[in-house]
Amino acid sequence: MSTLSHHERSKAVSRVSSTTNRMPRDITSEDGRCVLHRPSSEAEWTHYHDLRRAILYERRGRFGAYDASHPDEHRRENHPFLLLLDGIPAGTIRIDLVEDEAIFRLVTIRENLQRHGYGRQMLALAEKFVREEGRPLIRSHVHRTATGFYERCGFTRDGPDEGGETVLMGKDLAQTPS
Ligand SMILES: CC(C)(COP(=O)(O)OP(=O)(O)OC[C@H]1O[C@@H](n2cnc3c(N)ncnc32)[C@H](O)[C@@H]1OP(=O)(O)O)[C@@H](O)C(=O)NCCC(=O)NCCS
Repeated sequence: MSTLSHHERSKAVSRVSSTTNRMPRDITSEDGRCVLHRPSSEAEWTHYHDLRRAILYERRGRFGAYDASHPDEHRRENHPFLLLLDGIPAGTIRIDLVEDEAIFRLVTIRENLQRHGYGRQMLALAEKFVREEGRPLIRSHVHRTATGFYERCGFTRDGPDEGGETVLMGKDLAQTPS
């Protein structure tokens, strides 16, 4: 990880906009197939929660634990997104903006679409959002089974491995070409 100070990092990527008071615009891949979209309709919220519940909770044996009405989903600084692939819900990510950092939370790709490059595309679109929000640093508490994926997307381990289910990883955008 970078050794840039807080001040240096803040200068490295200037804040050009803030979505904390408005609905973020969609962020679309160059070929137009992948769109990072803020859930707005009830149906979109249902897809968002169903993907997270199935892939990150029930698939790991945690039934009845997912809370779709958790207040963190609606905090102004937290940004839930659906990945739409050709208009179909294909994945989820929540991007929480905290001071000069962004935190990626509950990253999922629909099971039948995994290992086709869509996770990488979703993180690239999420990174674009983070840059537009002027945050120079991304962190994520990554499940051990997914650290290889994050490494392929340019993240490195961020601090000592404490042996838990997740590993803290990070990416310094000031040192990554967009
Ligand atoms: C992890 C996840 C988001 C990755 O999305 P994906 O669409 O399957 O990944 P991609 O196809 O874009 O893979 C990009 C690269 O990462 C690699 N990769 C993907 N998943 C990986 C994994 N679990 N372990 C190691 N490498 C992985 C791919 O092989 C590919 O490598 P390449 O650069 O050599 O082509 C998705 O598989 C998923 O939802 N998994 C279950 C939930 C989960 O673990 N989420 C993360 C919680 S922190």
